Amino acid sequence: MTRVHNFSPGPAALPLPVLERARAELLDYDGRGMSVMEMSHRSPEFIDIAERAEADFRELLGIGDDYHVLFLQGGATLQFSMLPLNLAGRDSVADYVHTGSWGTKAIAAARKLCRVNIAASSEGENFSCAPPPETWRLTPGAAYVHVTGNETIGGVEYHDYPSDLGAPLAADLSSTLLSRPLEVSRFGVIYAGAQKNIGPVGLTVVVIRKDLAGGARPDTPDMLDYLAHAEAGSMMNTPPTYNWYLAGLVFAWLKEQGGLAAMAERNRRKAAKLYAAIDASNFYRCPVREADRSWMNVPFTLADASLDGRFLDAAEAAGLANLKGHRSVGGMRASLYNAVTEEAVDALMAFMGEFENAAA
Ligand SMILES: Cc1ncc(COP(=O)(O)O)c(C=O)c1O
Repeated sequence: MTRVHNFSPGPAALPLPVLERARAELLDYDGRGMSVMEMSHRSPEFIDIAERAEADFRELLGIGDDYHVLFLQGGATLQFSMLPLNLAGRDSVADYVHTGSWGTKAIAAARKLCRVNIAASSEGENFSCAPPPETWRLTPGAAYVHVTGNETIGGVEYHDYPSDLGAPLAADLSSTLLSRPLEVSRFGVIYAGAQKNIGPVGLTVVVIRKDLAGGARPDTPDMLDYLAHAEAGSMMNTPPTYNWYLAGLVFAWLKEQGGLAAMAERNRRKAAKLYAAIDASNFYRCPVREADRSWMNVPFTLADASLDGRFLDAAEAAGLANLKGHRSVGGMRASLYNAVTEEAVDALMAFMGEFENAAA
């Protein structure tokens, strides 16, 4: 078996011990004579799996009893609409901080459902930075303030979040959740598609302060209503059971690694050395302002873009997969999620050094 170093932005690398455990349990889960995939979601075995996953997730992030944790479907994209449907009336204003492509999509979805104020935007700087909270122009009485914690395509990340904005802070943390500790109490709503640091695609995790669930518009279908999902224990219909189980294995693995503080240390180190190598070279360049550089997604360009294809082919041949930048921005992007090891980053840096020397 050869496993490559996988720098995919998502669906992304999963921890090898998680995959090995899933393989070991694939045909016969805990002596039940069947796979988790084949079990009823109402069975005591699955209820135990689901509850353990939620408890471990809560423990990792220190989530209090005043928050619901929901395991949903529809991706982070559905949350772009569920959030305004549940928290804003048609005539209310929601403030959006715009730092890249995912924010653009969140804003477009919200505009169909409520009034949107762009409280801050880095569009004029080609989305190369994250406007600091002191510069956000907030609307008094706004339904919520939305921020994309980490722009997966542009590689722009907020490394800190404000408290007491006067309105609930709602955050798309798809590509940063679980990469480091987080002060959850600063947020009203957090959502994330699973396919980066949580597990396989097909599951969406929502963390919502209990007092914010229950305000959905009267015509909101139950399947789009946070409170309805909370009251049904995220089992209003058949949930994505196998994904929930795999996410649970990832949470258990994270606890074994020492939790989010240990992951943060590792992730900070991984990103710092890759950015340092890029900055030290005249051949590679990262377009993002230093203070706002993502720990999870490192975009970079080559001095000569005509070498991009050769770079990617040679990287692939060296066992370094999925380094192509998003089609909307081009260049390269190395995604360094929790399951990407330090050895993978070292191998990437060694390859980049060799490629640069060969191209000189
Ligand atoms: C920050 C961010 N938000 C939203 C999405 C969309 O997620 P999904 O495909 O789960 O709807 C992505 C996907 O990569 C993302 O990175």
